[in-house]
Amino acid sequence: MPCAKRGSVLGEAEVTALAELVQGGAPLSMGTWRDRFERSFAQLVDTRYAMTTTSGTVSLELAIQLLDLQPGDEVIATPQTYQATVMPLLDREVTVRFCDIDPMTLNIDPAAVEALITPRTRALLLVHYGGCPAEMDEIMAVARRHGILVVEDCAHALGADYRGRRPGSLADIGCFSFQNAKNITTLGEGGMVTFDRDDWALRLERLRGNDVDAQIEPEEWIDPDEPLVLPWMKYSAAVYSDRVTRIRRAGTNATMSEAAAAVGLAQLSRLDTLQGTRSSIAARLDAVLRRYPFVRPQQAPAHSGHAYHLYTCFADSRGLRDQLLLALDRRGVEIQLRYFPLHLTPEWRHRGHGRGECPVAESMWFDQHLNLPCHPGLRTSQVEYLVEALDESLAEVQAMAGGTAAPEPGAALTAG
Ligand SMILES: Cc1ncc(COP(=O)(O)O)c(C=O)c1O
Repeated sequence: MPCAKRGSVLGEAEVTALAELVQGGAPLSMGTWRDRFERSFAQLVDTRYAMTTTSGTVSLELAIQLLDLQPGDEVIATPQTYQATVMPLLDREVTVRFCDIDPMTLNIDPAAVEALITPRTRALLLVHYGGCPAEMDEIMAVARRHGILVVEDCAHALGADYRGRRPGSLADIGCFSFQNAKNITTLGEGGMVTFDRDDWALRLERLRGNDVDAQIEPEEWIDPDEPLVLPWMKYSAAVYSDRVTRIRRAGTNATMSEAAAAVGLAQLSRLDTLQGTRSSIAARLDAVLRRYPFVRPQQAPAHSGHAYHLYTCFADSRGLRDQLLLALDRRGVEIQLRYFPLHLTPEWRHRGHGRGECPVAESMWFDQHLNLPCHPGLRTSQVEYLVEALDESLAEVQAMAGGTAAPEPGAALTAG
């Protein structure tokens, strides 16, 4: 069952937008498409600002820069995510406290957050794993009580909802990815940062536009009303009328191209259809799993809608999970396991993290976790094949386990 190598689907709307851009002679950078895409995205997510970048990774780097972390500060983070969520903290002098996850959702466990808070805790980084919304009410209640800023990694969560609101508007900052496999794409790479704060909008504009993230004060010796000889002098007047008093960090060029933004805007218009396809594939897989008591799907909170960037399920033991993986692999079903617990990766072990820090995350990963293909790039025949292959594989594993598939007691936590 060779799967499409894209999670997103492009078609006429994207080709038309690109043709308009290419044939219209408009600028290919910093034109109107980026503004339009940002405005539509802000409206969809319901935040005051939605600012494009060049990737989800860059969005997270810039968002974390806005938090103004100081040496000695502490940040609580989920270990069950892609490395980009926490990578910007690796070269900062801050302490990361990985918080264990909820075994039903793989998202940060609100009940585990409070115990990790100290007077130095400044921020919390979470992901809506696979598009399954985290329990934001409980997380935000703890965070607000302690004055902690919360960043939502929404790389998987476009299309999800939580109590009628969209991820990206549920905390202080939301970061999205439009990379090839994501729920919409901006021609393969792209990102967005969403938030409500005016001061952050000014800083992010500088950070993504080759300027410095700095404290700026007006220079008094420049007369702002002085007549300008030529229009370009406006630029130098602006530069000379600013005085930098504290440089936080140098900016970069994270400008989304007009082509990417044009495609992003077209993709937004088909988001509901794309989401409908993901949800209907997930419903088919759910129906198969219900027949086998030794597997269960990831469970989104009752008051939320799952975006199904990933379809995740769990087997009762490592033996069953591994047999299932092998049975699916023999039938040509592509399985991509995501993600190895971050606190056990070499870079975070180098920073003193290790085994036993997040026992639930470790046991879910090593003993239970499985992702199945679920995206609109699958043809109808591929979905039919997947459903059948899953059913057959589960039946095979059940038969091997003696028909009852009882959980194997004491599956030890060993890396593998
Ligand atoms: C949870 C998560 N965060 C961040 C990223 C980074 O996004 P990008 O690939 O656009 O840099 C990804 C990408 O796979 C992701 O899955």
